[in-house]
Amino acid sequence: MATTSVMHTVLVPVKQDRLEIFSQDVTRGLSAKNKYLNSKYFYDAEGDRLFQEIMRCHEYYLTDCEMEILQEQSALISKTILSHAKQFDVVELGAGDATKSIHLLKELLKTGQDFTYYPVDISGNVITQLEQSLPKQLPALKMHGLNGEYFEMLQQAGVLSHKNKVVLCMGGNIGNFSPSEARKFCRQLRSYLQPGDLVIIGIDLKKHPRIILDAYNDTGGFTRDFNLNLLKRINRELEGNFDITKFDHYATYDPGTGACKSYLVSLEEQDVKIGDQTFHFSLDEPIYMEISQKYDLESIEQMATQSGFETVTDFFDSRRWFADCMWLCV
Ligand code: AVJ
Repeated sequence: MATTSVMHTVLVPVKQDRLEIFSQDVTRGLSAKNKYLNSKYFYDAEGDRLFQEIMRCHEYYLTDCEMEILQEQSALISKTILSHAKQFDVVELGAGDATKSIHLLKELLKTGQDFTYYPVDISGNVITQLEQSLPKQLPALKMHGLNGEYFEMLQQAGVLSHKNKVVLCMGGNIGNFSPSEARKFCRQLRSYLQPGDLVIIGIDLKKHPRIILDAYNDTGGFTRDFNLNLLKRINRELEGNFDITKFDHYATYDPGTGACKSYLVSLEEQDVKIGDQTFHFSLDEPIYMEISQKYDLESIEQMATQSGFETVTDFFDSRRWFADCMWLCV
């Protein structure tokens, strides 16, 4: 009896916390004058799968661009790292399956540098998989997976290693922040690092507006499904009754500001129930779902400097559509 009650007090609150925060965020977003949902909730199992599909779409150029950079320029990136850091360990924020970073890790191993790779991911699954697959591909690699939030795990890496850090932040995830949130993220990142540490951060660049718009409006409809999937997740996890056939995906890109935004538009006047709450949608009312901010080099440089970094160099793909920016902590 005593054991059972202890189990409950330990296990139940953790699960409630996550759902409670999700529920609060959804309620706040759908009660706002301009309705919104947070794109960080896109990534449940089905969302992960749909994002894989998006990355395979020919319109979605970001992944191919960054892959090209890592495939073609890892030797140069490795050389540039070595010219700035004598001794270092590598931390990758949001490591995923490490298919891009593996090229760089391979080159770093070739130099004979003694370093440990700390992949960080919020998904425990991802870390377990990496710990199985990477040693097969790179037997000489020392690695230590860290499952948790970026900044908490960065702090953890600082406890485990007293060398300078090379922090990899690939994939262009910073795009999901507004410019002011992105500056805040960079300042926060800097606060967890030491002078002499390096950051390599993937950032999508401004380019012809149609190329950008097409990447978030693929003809296969994967981006639409990716957005609609969050409504399905709300239905499942928060007992909602969204009819996803009554919402349409709409993407916009403003070449002036560089903001690419996704919306779901209500196709009729309707009420949606989530748990015991009801949300009213008028005809054509939008829910703002996601920003994928695009930058020019000048604003990237500004963001780096304002956050306590100094640009070492930028690595581009052959079309100059995407940049992996190397910053030094000053
Ligand atoms: C994972 C943030 C890089 O914004 O391009 C892809 C997510 N959203 N298609 C991006 C996403 C719609 C993606 N990032």
